[in-house]
Amino acid sequence: MSNNTSVNSRWSSNFAYILAATGAAVGLGNIWKFPYIMGENGGGAFVIVYLLCILFIGIPVMMAEVYIGKQGRSTPANAVAKVAQQNGRSKNWACIGAMGILAGFLVLSFYIVIAGWAVAYVFKSLSGDISAAGGDAQQIGELFSVLTSDPKQLLVWSTLVIVGTVLVLANGVTKGLERVVTWLMPALFLLLAVIMLYAGVTGDFSAAASFMFSPDFSKLTINSVLTALGHAFFTLSLSSGIMMIYGAYLPEGTSIARTSIYIAIADTVVALMAGLAIYPIVFANGIEPTAGPGLLFVSLPIAFGTMPFGGVVSTVFFTMVVVAAFTSALALLESSAAYLVERRGLRRNVAAIVAGTGVWLLSLGTIGSFAGWQFAQIDAGAMGHNFFEILDYLTANILLPLGGLLITIFVGWVIQADSLKQHMGLDNRTFQMFSKSVKFISPFAIAVVFLNAIGWLSV
Ligand code: PHE
Repeated sequence: MSNNTSVNSRWSSNFAYILAATGAAVGLGNIWKFPYIMGENGGGAFVIVYLLCILFIGIPVMMAEVYIGKQGRSTPANAVAKVAQQNGRSKNWACIGAMGILAGFLVLSFYIVIAGWAVAYVFKSLSGDISAAGGDAQQIGELFSVLTSDPKQLLVWSTLVIVGTVLVLANGVTKGLERVVTWLMPALFLLLAVIMLYAGVTGDFSAAASFMFSPDFSKLTINSVLTALGHAFFTLSLSSGIMMIYGAYLPEGTSIARTSIYIAIADTVVALMAGLAIYPIVFANGIEPTAGPGLLFVSLPIAFGTMPFGGVVSTVFFTMVVVAAFTSALALLESSAAYLVERRGLRRNVAAIVAGTGVWLLSLGTIGSFAGWQFAQIDAGAMGHNFFEILDYLTANILLPLGGLLITIFVGWVIQADSLKQHMGLDNRTFQMFSKSVKFISPFAIAVVFLNAIGWLSV
């Protein structure tokens, strides 16, 4: 069996799979997005709701996706079609898998641009630009706005990210993807732990811990609940074809339930560690937790500019962000590349290049949105005012929840419980819980988020 034939590949161990899937899950969502949405939604109470969403919705949906991939042993659309047919149902359910591949492709086109910012910040830290700003808010703000509005810089950094992604994937699943994540994931944990310890010692750790862990439910709005649920999907990389394709490479005999729980725990631990690395610095420097998306790229560098060894800390910190984003980018391109191998008969390396070129071309829309190019400024009302905003809305608010909804309906209502039970490796009682969750809790909760997102239900 050659490693180059994508869907015939298998992870060489359960551990390698767990690392790769954790790499897919842990990304900008954990380090960039989670800390600032937690800040915007009042801290502790939001964290509790988020944890419940991961436990009762995220984990069951992840298990369902991995099951489909493993059972179908093909790229997402084919895998869903095969599982549907095995259960005597229409193969049109394949649309769920196709939607996933599409969502992954679209997400990646803007993901590489934001990951590119992090790469740029590694260089800005190394070159001393961040320390030179000496914590001056205006200078740091300018650094960020110059970067995000300069098409040349954006193009260089995001191209670097996609070229790196293609180079790794061209080498196949075990020789490329697996080998790289087995190095990068431990490195990521290590870097994060170093930053967390540093922040804990030099920053205001107790303020951070009480902000994150003492819940004030009066600060929780219904919208925060919806944000938490949406983020549970995003952070676990659900409904984007990823968990299905990674499931297709699962060796026989792996417990889907146990590994999914490990992956979700690792993802959650990283998100909480990221919070504990960022908030002590935020509070010690009088920065507002509600700073929003700029928290990572503007607020933190202000602190880095004033602290001892700030240049080194900043370099380590942004290197960690790049590593996290890169292992997610690998995952996001994998299902498109595998699709081209399986369905279009391309060689693995050609498939990686073709998929990567497609993503790169589409990323010009996001770059144009930031750089103010005319073609990228599209007014779509509530969906956004430029290509990037529309793409972000379309994926996070429509494709991901809709995909999740269809997956739970498919697994909960369409396929037979016995086959599912046999593969999940769960005892009777836990299986009943899983089954109830995918049948009732998850579809209902996702439907509420989705209808709210598209404005049919304004809560
Ligand atoms: N889960 C990844 C993160 O947290 C990103 C991602 C989102 C990947 C959606 C796939 C789909 O950054």
